[in-house]
This record gives sequence, C-alpha cells and structure tokens, in this order.
Amino acid sequence: MSNSIALVTGGLGGIGTEISKKLATNGFTVIATTFNKEIENADQWVAEQKAAGFDFIVEEADVTDFAACASMVKRVEETHGPINVLVNCAGITRDGFLKNMDESSWDAVLSTNLDGVYNMTKNVLDYMLSREFGRIINISSVNGQRGQFGQTNYSAAKAGMHGFTMALAQEVARKGITVNSVSPGYIATSMVMAIDESIRNNLISQIPMQRLGEPVEIANTVGFLASSEANYITGANIPVNGGLFTSF
Ligand code: CAA
Repeated sequence: MSNSIALVTGGLGGIGTEISKKLATNGFTVIATTFNKEIENADQWVAEQKAAGFDFIVEEADVTDFAACASMVKRVEETHGPINVLVNCAGITRDGFLKNMDESSWDAVLSTNLDGVYNMTKNVLDYMLSREFGRIINISSVNGQRGQFGQTNYSAAKAGMHGFTMALAQEVARKGITVNSVSPGYIATSMVMAIDESIRNNLISQIPMQRLGEPVEIANTVGFLASSEANYITGANIPVNGGLFTSF
C-alpha cells in the first residue's frame, strides 16, 4: 500500500493524532491537516510524532473554506499521490443553551463540522471516482444520535454528517467507494476535558463502562473501516461509546 494516501482533517487533534498513527501503522502515507499550522503548533507536533517513529506530512486548509480545500486536495494529489482514504475528523464545540446561543456559535459549529465534510469530500470525490476506489470515513458523535443538552448546534451537525454518509454511500457504491461514519462517545481529549469537571463526572457516571473512551479506540475502528476487511460495509454508523447509547 506504499504511496497510498490517507488524508485526515483535524489530524493533529486528540482523536486525529491516533487515527493518523493507526493509518500510518497500516501502511498509508498520512497527510494530517490543520486549519492553521501556527495556532496548532504543527512543527512541534511533527517533531513529537517523528520522535515516536511516525513521519507525517501536515497540510493547511480551513475546512470551512471550499476553495482552500480544493487547492489543498489538488496539491496533495499532485505532490504526494492518490488520496485513497479521507477521514473527516475536524470538529469543534460551542456548547450552550439554545436560548443563549448566538448566530456565531451556531455558524461556527455547522460550518466546521458539517460544511467541512462537504467541502473536503466534494473535492476528493472526483479523484476517487476516476480511480473507482475510495474510503470515506466521517467522525460523527454519539450526541448526533441521541441529542445532548447544551449542544443543539453540535448534535445537528453530527446527525447531519451521518445523513450525508448514508446518502453518498448509495451514490458511489457502484464506483468502489465506501462511505461510513464512526460515532465516538465521550473520549479522553482536550474537548471533553474542557467540560466543567462536575458535569463531566456526571456524564461519565451515565456511561455503562464507567469511563471515558481512549482516542486509540476510535482509531482502531477507523483503521478497520479503511482496510479491505471492511469492503462490504457502506452507509454504516459504527458507535464506539462504552454503551452510552445503544440502537439498531
Ligand atoms: N439534562 C437535563 N438538565 C440538565 C442537564 C441535562 N443533561 N445538564 C444540565 N441541566 C440543568 C442543570 O441541572 C441546571 O438546572 P437548574 O438551573 O435547575 O439547576 C441547568 O440545566 C443549567 O445547567 P448548567 O449549570 O450546566 O448551565 P451552564 O450554563 O453553566 O452550562 C452547558 C450549560 C455549557 C451546556 C453545560 O451544561 C455543559 O457543558 N454541558 C455538557 C455539554 C456536553 O456534553 N458537551 C459535550 C462536549 S464533548 C463532545 O461534544 C464530544 C462528543 O462528541 C461526545
């Protein structure tokens, strides 16, 4: 699988880093993307990963910006090789009650978490279609499945991601491309650690496994979906949530 590219948006984040590592371990050349190399200390991240044995390439593109995604995807295809795996992992929260939620908090979450999936996938898709192969994996959330108090924006965006997954999966199934979602529960990342401690402890007490998930537990699922072992899985949502939400 040498020179087969896996592109991970939000690849420097808590879950994104583990996904990048898993895909690299599985033989992909990994391009991790960030909205801003300086703000996310990309050079330091690359150095830390190199010390741990991983050679990652970081590309910059704000996923809310269609044109920036288009030029980044073109650059990666022309410079590094075919993007065979796209992981849409870039995501943010702006939690608060809807009655207090201003338009900027709504727009920021919808444009990053949902428009970002369109902006990246639309630009990668033509390349995948031309090769009749691709694996698209969208990192949704348990809170898209069940709704979460204080997250009307995030829950709407994450539910929308899986709607996108189901629709696109049908459109491209005959072209060798699978499209799936992974829905993490509460994972031990800075996003979850930013929740007020007493609220977080209350949330953890509701998880049947009584603990936060580990980023690697999401990465393992992504690694599976990107592999040939998952060839017949498309349009699916794989929950990885310690039992917090169960459904058919
Ligand atoms: N259900 C019902 N009532 C709730 C509740 C819940 N889940 N959570 C809080 N309330 C109630 C409180 O009991 C309180 O009631 P009273 O006023 O009667 O005492 C009232 O709502 C106000 O609650 P807070 O004091 O928490 O209000 P706040 O303004 O300080 O904070 C909030 C609001 C920011 C939404 C805060 O509750 C919060 O951070 N909640 C957690 C949201 C969350 O789970 N975010 C996930 C982030 S991680 C992520 O998104 C990753 C992923 O994919 C899982």
